[in-house]
Amino acid sequence: MSKHDLKEISPEDRWAQTVEASMFDRSEGLDSPSASECRELLRKRYRVDTGLIRHSEKVAQLAVTIGKALNKKGLELDLRLIEAASLLHDMFRGERDHGLLAGRLLRQLEYPKVAYIVENHMQPFYQDRDKLTEHVIVCLSDKFVQEDCLVPLEVRFEKKLVYYANNPRIKTMVHSRFMDAKTAQTHVEIILGHPIEKFFAQLSK
Ligand SMILES: [Fe+2]
Repeated sequence: MSKHDLKEISPEDRWAQTVEASMFDRSEGLDSPSASECRELLRKRYRVDTGLIRHSEKVAQLAVTIGKALNKKGLELDLRLIEAASLLHDMFRGERDHGLLAGRLLRQLEYPKVAYIVENHMQPFYQDRDKLTEHVIVCLSDKFVQEDCLVPLEVRFEKKLVYYANNPRIKTMVHSRFMDAKTAQTHVEIILGHPIEKFFAQLSK
């Protein structure tokens, strides 16, 4: 079976049947669920672990803060998309190919933009050349959050590099992800004109 063949992964199929598309507000052709719809999905439908929810909430807080600040500088990022993808990116963490599983569910619910980010949150940040997209903001914010704490990228990656010290293949992958994150951090900070860590104090309360 190929890595991406999800046919044999049954939990998502079972879970998907318990989610009715009608629980989402589609009245204005909204193409991302609201934060409260995401929370309903996480807490009530899938009973996602509270630690994982706290992690996702922190990622969402940081990602939306960065998105708003970038929009003030002239970007046109979709903040609703950023918030939904941040809240849902790890909803099936613990399952094999968790991003793909969650993405498949979100496609069934007809949220392809959110699905795309969730499916690719473990992939290189820059999927669209060097464009600062909603995907980049969510991936970057995720890397600043260790469990539910905001930490510099160096702290988050150091822990992984130590953990995989004896596995050169994974260590190389982690290092390349770190370089990806540093590139995105620099990209964002050049536009903002200040370090992302300046937001930490206000978001740590
Ligand atoms: Fe995450």
